[in-house]
Amino acid sequence: MQADIIVDLQYGDCGKGKVTHHLCKSGEYTHVVRYNGGCNAGHTIYHNGKEFITHHIPAGVFFGIKSIIGPGCVVNPKQFFKEMQMLKDGGIDTEGLIYIAKNAHIITGDHLAEDGKDSKIGTTKRGNGPAYRDKYSRDGLRAETVDELSDYLIDIYDELHNSENVNVLFEGAQGFGLDIDWGDYPYVTSSHCTSAAALLNGVPPQAIRKVWGVAKMYETYVGAKKFQPDGEIFNMLRKVGKEYGATTGRPRQCNWMDWDLVEKAIKVNGVTDLVFNKVDILEQVNKWNAYKGGNEIKFENGELMQKWITDNVASDGVRVYFSRDKDRI
Ligand code: IMP
Ligand code: MG
Repeated sequence: MQADIIVDLQYGDCGKGKVTHHLCKSGEYTHVVRYNGGCNAGHTIYHNGKEFITHHIPAGVFFGIKSIIGPGCVVNPKQFFKEMQMLKDGGIDTEGLIYIAKNAHIITGDHLAEDGKDSKIGTTKRGNGPAYRDKYSRDGLRAETVDELSDYLIDIYDELHNSENVNVLFEGAQGFGLDIDWGDYPYVTSSHCTSAAALLNGVPPQAIRKVWGVAKMYETYVGAKKFQPDGEIFNMLRKVGKEYGATTGRPRQCNWMDWDLVEKAIKVNGVTDLVFNKVDILEQVNKWNAYKGGNEIKFENGELMQKWITDNVASDGVRVYFSRDKDRI
């Protein structure tokens, strides 16, 4: 078995969907597995000139690759079927391609109602926190107990370990700054968002080849804590970067890139390949700023900032790629 992992190095919304979509085109993967989170995630994917926003379903489906919602995920069946319909309506063939691990957990109506009342964390109100809590207090419902999901259930051990030439792309949700252990607790999500979480979905560590770390040239965060500094420039960043939640439509708070966070995320995740998305947004606001060691650094242009980033990771042998928002790859 071989596997690559995609992780987000900031607060989600860095463009993992774009990277997954790009990597799937190579045709080398036999499976794409989502390894954490639920429909709190929103992946925006451009496929054959159309925009799709998926919450549960991995991007592999766009390329006819078997796509599995792994046991580290929580699933809202209603949302799952809604998404299946959305894909079918958009002309995507889902037949025999989409599966849910039998041991993934279910987001129930009660979870949704409870999370709907949240005012402390600024959750997406999609029931994630209560569903994970019930999973860990051993009060949860597994997907295998839900009749209407029976056509989609899969035993992920059988699937990954008893098939030939398995090559998995693991697709993460949320990001390092939202990780239950590494994020700014309690302003975090309820699942593990690091590359380690992929291993919890049935793949041995020896199988991992590449870990793709995805970041943005600036930072965004959605939630209850104050994140965005004062200054009109950050509102401009939001406007130019179209920084509104794919799941909730909430305006994302914006700030310059915090290199200390990105560096920590690179090390903890074991990133081998690094993608920085949205380089053209900083060009449009005509500012290239970042924080390192608590200081604000100002670059004269995008090329200097890119060189600085590349130099920062050179000693770790990490390959770096820069991508423009307007390039639909
Ligand atoms: P929850 O995951 O809905 O419980 O929300 C916890 C925190 O994570 C909130 O600040 C959410 O806005 C944030 N969050 C959850 N999922 C995503 C995501 O996919 N992208 C960005 N932020 C997210
Ligand atoms: Mg998102």
